[in-house]
Amino acid sequence: MALLTCQNLSLGYEGKSIVDGLTFSVNPGDYLCVVGENGSGKSTLIKTVLKLMPPVFGQVLTGDGLRHDEIGYLPQQTVVQKDFPASVREIVLSGCLNRCGLRPFYSRGERLLAASNMEKLGITPLAKRCYRELSGGQQQRVLLARALCATRKLLLLDEPVAGLDPNATADMYRLIARLNAEDGITVIMISHDITAAVQYASHILHIGSRRPLFFGTAAGYRESDVGKAFCSLNRGDF
Ligand SMILES: Nc1ncnc2c1ncn2[C@@H]1O[C@H](COP(=O)(O)OP(=O)(O)OP(=O)(O)O)[C@@H](O)[C@H]1O
Ligand SMILES: [Mg+2]
Repeated sequence: MALLTCQNLSLGYEGKSIVDGLTFSVNPGDYLCVVGENGSGKSTLIKTVLKLMPPVFGQVLTGDGLRHDEIGYLPQQTVVQKDFPASVREIVLSGCLNRCGLRPFYSRGERLLAASNMEKLGITPLAKRCYRELSGGQQQRVLLARALCATRKLLLLDEPVAGLDPNATADMYRLIARLNAEDGITVIMISHDITAAVQYASHILHIGSRRPLFFGTAAGYRESDVGKAFCSLNRGDF
C-alpha cells in the first residue's frame, strides 16, 4: 500500500494555484527526488504534504498507517535559521516534540533516541556546540538528525545539500542513501542536483511551469525526452 498518494493536486496560496494536476504515489522504501526550476512549487508541495497549508484542489492521502505527525522534515534553510542560538543537542531533541504531546519535558526514551541519531550521523562530539557556530555541512547533519527523531518511516528533505562543498555534499548523499537502504526509511528529497538525483533516487518527479513534466522511475526519466534535456542542461553541475 502506498505511503503517500497525491491525486490531481493543485498547489498554491490563498486559493490561487501555482501548479496543477500533480498525481503520484510513494511506496514504502522509495527514494523520490523532486526536481524543477526555482519557483516551480517544490517547497510548496512539501508544505502541502505536511498539511502546513491546504491544497487548492485535489487530495493528499497517507497510507500504511502513516500519520502526518510522524513525518521527518528538513526545511529549506534561510539565513535566519542558520543563525539559530541553540545547542546541537537541543535542536536534535526538538525533533521529538511531536512525541511529547502536552508533556513539557523530554522523556528518557526521547533523549536516548536523540543520542542514537546524533551517533548515527557522526555529530555526537558536537552535542554541546552552538548550532550557529557550525559549518554548513555540520548544520545539515544536525537537521537530518532532528528530522530522524520525528520518524522511522518518511523523511521530507528540502534541498539538504544547498550551499555545501563537494565533499560535504557527497557525505550527505551517502548518509541519506544509507538511511533509505539500510534503515528502510522512505525519502522524498528536493534537489537541483540532477546528476545525483538520477544516481541515488528510485523515482523522479519533475515539476515544470505550472504542471508536472514527469513522474516515474529514475531509469525511465533518464530515457525520457524531458529527462534527457534536463540532464544535458545540468551536466557537470555539482
Ligand atoms: N507564502 C507565500 N505566499 C504567496 N506565494 C508564495 C509563498 N511562498 C512561495 N510563494 C510562491 O509560490 C511559488 C513556488 O514557490 P516555492 O517556494 O514552492 O518554489 P520552489 O520550487 O521551492 O523554488 P526554489 O527552487 O527557489 O526553492 C513561487 O512563485 C513563490 O513566489
Ligand atoms: Mg524551495
